[in-house]
Amino acid sequence: MERKTALITGGSGYLGVHLAKELNQRGWRVISLDLKPHTKCFNVAYRGDVRDKDILTQIFKSYKIDTVFHLAGRIEVGESFKEPTVFYDHNLAGTCNLLHMMATHGVKNIVYSSSAAVYKQQDEILRKIVRLLITLRMVIRNMLQNVQYGIPV
Ligand SMILES: NC(=O)c1ccc[n+]([C@@H]2O[C@H](COP(=O)([O-])OP(=O)(O)OC[C@H]3O[C@@H](n4cnc5c(N)ncnc54)[C@H](O)[C@@H]3O)[C@@H](O)[C@H]2O)c1
Repeated sequence: MERKTALITGGSGYLGVHLAKELNQRGWRVISLDLKPHTKCFNVAYRGDVRDKDILTQIFKSYKIDTVFHLAGRIEVGESFKEPTVFYDHNLAGTCNLLHMMATHGVKNIVYSSSAAVYKQQDEILRKIVRLLITLRMVIRNMLQNVQYGIPV
């Protein structure tokens, strides 16, 4: 049987490293794309940004990717409040770019991990943070549904 190939975005992160080890054990070839340096658990590691079309083109042209595990994103709750546009850029623009490039290269399978945090809306500041993160999640969910129905992002 042909070996399956996974692209993990955010492969240097907490979940990415565990996922890579698991996929390796199951015989997958694992490629990662992350802004940060990589550990050794990847067959191929790209240091780069999901918002960068050139690097995604290079990856999708070089490998037949079966499934993208999209874990790249900014997750720091406090920072998301201080720099909301930076978060929109990484998480929303990054996902949009990735989906567009996947469609361009005929890659159909994506596993998207949304928010790690569970929020209790205690005060006004937390309410604002929650609104931002919920908005991001809803927009990305809509984008994924559109792609599923063949509507381009
Ligand atoms: N850790 C958990 O328990 C958990 C649970 C549920 C959902 N999630 C979600 O899974 C995802 C990953 O979580 P994590 O705990 O591994 O986070 P993490 O911060 O450890 O890893 C995220 C990785 O994404 C990379 N990254 C950020 N922006 C990038 C960009 N523009 N291009 C390329 N790489 C970029 C970072 O460098 C980092 O290595 C997040 O969306 C998080 O909300 C995590």
